[in-house]
Amino acid sequence: MFERLDRLPPDPILGLMAAFRADADPHKVDLGVGVYRNDQGETPILQAVRQAEQAMLGRQTTKTYVAPAGNPGFNQALERFVLGDEHSALTAGRVRTVQAPGGCGALRLGAELIRAASPESVVYVSTPTWANHVPLLSGCGLKLERYPYFDPATGGVKFEAMLEALERLPARAVVLLHASCHNPTGADLSEAQWRELLGLFKRRGLLPFIDIAYQGLGTGVVEDAFGIRLFCAELPEVTIAVSCSKNFGLYRERTGALHVINETSATADAVLTQLVRIARSIYSMPPDHGAAIVHEILASENLRKVWADEVAVMRKRIQGLRHEAVRHLQLTCPHRDFGFIERQRGMFSYLGVNVEQVRELRTRHHVYMTDDSRINIAGLRRENLEYFAQAVAQVLTAR
Ligand code: LMR
Repeated sequence: MFERLDRLPPDPILGLMAAFRADADPHKVDLGVGVYRNDQGETPILQAVRQAEQAMLGRQTTKTYVAPAGNPGFNQALERFVLGDEHSALTAGRVRTVQAPGGCGALRLGAELIRAASPESVVYVSTPTWANHVPLLSGCGLKLERYPYFDPATGGVKFEAMLEALERLPARAVVLLHASCHNPTGADLSEAQWRELLGLFKRRGLLPFIDIAYQGLGTGVVEDAFGIRLFCAELPEVTIAVSCSKNFGLYRERTGALHVINETSATADAVLTQLVRIARSIYSMPPDHGAAIVHEILASENLRKVWADEVAVMRKRIQGLRHEAVRHLQLTCPHRDFGFIERQRGMFSYLGVNVEQVRELRTRHHVYMTDDSRINIAGLRRENLEYFAQAVAQVLTAR
């Protein structure tokens, strides 16, 4: 039977990891997969994670099952981390959370929940959006449509076009939003734009599904959750997929959660039973280790401070690299404006070169990025910025 299956092309993002590892060139630059790197090009385990892991392992006495909803301490701590300690949705008992296998698992759980509640739902995603949103959300049978978002002319958000498109959606349409550090463009909504969007969601009865995968890596831990906190305070229903991969550096530990904010506590209880059933039917229970680490960090004042300092270092490094990348590109490509890179936030920006130029950067210069020219800013290093800027200039001037 399996001989009927076609061979598939590599994943557009993860396929680059293998290609980069196989490249023996000493100058190679990895701007592909969204993994934070320090100036030595490494992705070290955070100190807060190491300390939490040691404390936790010393105390652990069993490896028996936890539960399909995961670690309750992690779930509660993450609710407070994302929404803020005294958020009105929490005090009103309107939030329910299940731990998930990474942000991807959370997105799929959210999609399955939406489909269980309303199989005809259409989910609207930004143009562009993270490549894996499409299979994750549509894989359970939901229909996906697009709304305008990124403006390549300014490097910012096409806000008027976005509003116009959302204004035309039917009530109860599900709209996927990126909380901050938009993947793949780095173009974020301002606080004023989030407020305006809230008015539209209220007026049109739209349902927000918000993906937050970079809290702390854009402007700040609180600032990066501004839109989520606002929407959850003002709207009856919000679905939130959280990833702890980047901000806690827990990539392979598959740590994330789905928060669902409901109109009443009774609905919230029913939703939780549905989520538990969905989790049980897909993978039964999420992996424990990463969630236990995050719980340990968030529950300890000391470890939380260690983590906050480390995430601030990562954030400042990314901001500094954005500044330096623009400076180098200005020198090598004086006729092109790359200033948008500094105005954007988080790990990604579109370089704005075409697919042939992307391929040439890869084959001739060993600079790796996805075909849409998304670059992982954190993959740059002070020592290769000049090489990178020269390579970009060469492909831009090549005939
Ligand atoms: C990315 O966007 O590169 C990361 O989120 C990794 C992934 O799974 O695609």
